[in-house]
Amino acid sequence: MSGTAPEYILAVESSCDESAVALVQNGREVIAERVASQTALHATAGGVIPEAAARAHHEQLPHLLDEVLDEAEKAGVREKISGVAVTAGPGLIGSLIVGTGLASAWAWGRGLPLIATSHLEGHFRAAWLTRSGVGGGGRLPAVALIVSGGHTLLASISASGEQKLLGTTIDDAAGEAFDKIARLLGLPYPGGAALSALAAGEKPGGARLALPIAQTRGSLDFSFSGVKTAAARLALEAIGVDPSAPGRAAALQRQLEERPVPPEARVRIAAAAERAIVAALAARVRTALEAHPGAMLIVGGGVAANGPLRAALTEVATAAQREIAIPPIHWCTDNAAMIGAAAHAAVREGRADLLDPAKGIRPAASWTFGSIAPS
Ligand code: KG4
Ligand code: ZN
Repeated sequence: MSGTAPEYILAVESSCDESAVALVQNGREVIAERVASQTALHATAGGVIPEAAARAHHEQLPHLLDEVLDEAEKAGVREKISGVAVTAGPGLIGSLIVGTGLASAWAWGRGLPLIATSHLEGHFRAAWLTRSGVGGGGRLPAVALIVSGGHTLLASISASGEQKLLGTTIDDAAGEAFDKIARLLGLPYPGGAALSALAAGEKPGGARLALPIAQTRGSLDFSFSGVKTAAARLALEAIGVDPSAPGRAAALQRQLEERPVPPEARVRIAAAAERAIVAALAARVRTALEAHPGAMLIVGGGVAANGPLRAALTEVATAAQREIAIPPIHWCTDNAAMIGAAAHAAVREGRADLLDPAKGIRPAASWTFGSIAPS
């Protein structure tokens, strides 16, 4: 059952620590968009505090909505808005409630339909977004790799939009692994980009550290807790602490805070960790492409900003003679334009209905990739 999707969709995203609103035409053309990041708010705690995130969404979203509507007015399309999309999951439940509440109220006030949208589908549909001639490389069928602080998943999407989960992480997400290892090395949260910058300083030619990555035999699942543990052992050794000595993780982390890892060892550990994570991602993508002839490769999520990962995946795609689409960074990280794109596709391809906002929607902290909106 496929449907006619609204042409101009106002989209709201608030699943984690980015508040965002956008206006997207035909699921592709970004007319206006705003993102307010809460990174600074959560940096001191070393992670996202759900209560603080929800409060910040509550403060930020109305301003972002105003700004997007002002821009829509200037573009002469404000009155053409014909549907409202909102991330209904997966994510932090308090944050989702703030976004879905705002979107429902705004849609109800204007008599517009609501589209409950998957955050994960948003990440892979970001490859369809365009603005001023930038972006828009996505097409089906595709294999999608979504790698962020909260998610690591590999999926296939058929020519008609049918989605199948091929693999996911059995422990930490890829971005989470980057962040945890960065923390061991004394870098502030979220440390993925800083860890990568540190790793880039590794001198060429010298002996390189190699970290193991758990094998998830016979499946396309990922596991990153092993690389984190191995990096922690190297960090402790570098400050002269016996890593096999009994001690809780928190106590070991405190030792690393008191006695930072020397600069040269930091670089080598960062480089080894990055290599191990990138190799694990690239290997699974290679296998997935082999199993899906004709599929292009789409990459999304904040970790897609990682230079060595982009290079490795480009190499994998080129070797398999496939196209690759990695959206510009601001559409790889959490944003609302991708929710507008995903909502349009989900209605068009019959996976989502146009909902009556008066009936309300129920956000869900977990939402399996490819399934219809949870009710
Ligand atoms: O998609 P995103 O903005 O937020 C969610 O987690 O949903 O992704 C953020 C994640 C963080 O874990 C961050 O450390 C990681 O992406 N990240 C990177 C890089 N830039 C951001 N990881 C590795 N290398 C990077 N250059
Ligand atoms: Zn995300």
